[in-house]
Amino acid sequence: MIQAAIQTEHTKRDIGGIPFESPFTLAALSGYSDLAMRMVCRSLGACLTRHEVVLDQFILDHGTGPKSGEHLDPGDRPIACQLMGRDPVEMGQAARRMASFGYDIVDINFGCPVKKVLGRCRGGFLLSEPETAIQMVREVKAAVDVPVTIKMRRGLDESPLSRERFWHILSAAVDLGIAGVVVHGRTVDQRYEGFAKWEIIGEVKSRFPHLAVMGSGDLYTAEDCLRMLRETGCDGVTIARGAIENPWVFRDCLALWRGEEKPAPPTLAEQAKLFDDQYEIAINLYGLERATRQMRKFGIKRSKLHPEPEKVHRAFVTLSSSDDWARVRSEIYGVDSR
Ligand SMILES: Cc1cc2nc3c(=O)[nH]c(=O)nc-3n(C[C@H](O)[C@H](O)[C@H](O)COP(=O)(O)O)c2cc1C
Repeated sequence: MIQAAIQTEHTKRDIGGIPFESPFTLAALSGYSDLAMRMVCRSLGACLTRHEVVLDQFILDHGTGPKSGEHLDPGDRPIACQLMGRDPVEMGQAARRMASFGYDIVDINFGCPVKKVLGRCRGGFLLSEPETAIQMVREVKAAVDVPVTIKMRRGLDESPLSRERFWHILSAAVDLGIAGVVVHGRTVDQRYEGFAKWEIIGEVKSRFPHLAVMGSGDLYTAEDCLRMLRETGCDGVTIARGAIENPWVFRDCLALWRGEEKPAPPTLAEQAKLFDDQYEIAINLYGLERATRQMRKFGIKRSKLHPEPEKVHRAFVTLSSSDDWARVRSEIYGVDSR
């Protein structure tokens, strides 16, 4: 059984007491990991989900709408929220408010590589300012009762100083009592280019065997996910672009992990049904127009699952109403009614 083979005496199945049943979790994905995506990934086996990153200032200003962090569903637990900011005290205040919404875990973003974010000294930038990052962990830890985790890239760049700072921040955060870390094996400089180096994930688990360590980077198939678990000894994986493009990756991961055969790829009818389910939740969240725009992105990303990807791509690029989807469902997916 693969599950037994990759389990060691240090494998953790909880983050600060919040259990996760399998190693397969959904990554925080800005613009994607909303309630609708989280629910369909859960239905396919994701055992822990993450809300997309939210700015502390938005929370402190009592921002409203789907990104406010208030859209939780009892069926979507355990769930982590993720905050990003500049000022440690404000991050603590925002964390307190987020935790009051009912999140099981509060995660701090030290990884975002977006230019505007770096320009405002947030996200991945903080890997270059260890003392601010550490103070942020201290404030957030003091502000909430739920477990606190951090998300880090393996450094700002390839320099030895960057590596040194990675370890300095992580060691201090562990001393302050974080319950877990998500390590993305790319540098901030790399953004989403090139390959992720997984060695650092294994090093983190070896140095901190009692910490819940989740790996991130280049996880597109179930085979990738199991390979990361095997090669690094991490406790779990956070599936990102792989889950946007193919949420069935969770079902496949679970099957292989349990020593079963990998299931057949989703049929066109299964793909259409999942789209229907996700669209319905999105409509309740956003209203029809915005939900349709949101679903257009998913349809395009998932076009590769169809034998005629270009045709699907073209159809979703112009998707602008539920009638359009009914037509695509019938003409391209061959499914007439729900
Ligand atoms: C569209 C998109 C949005 C993302 N949003 C977030 C986010 O909100 N918070 C976060 O920590 N990481 C975010 N990430 C990074 C992913 O969680 C993940 O670490 C990264 O994509 C590497 O995994 P992959 O190579 O398997 O996609 C995002 C990535 C993508 C592609």
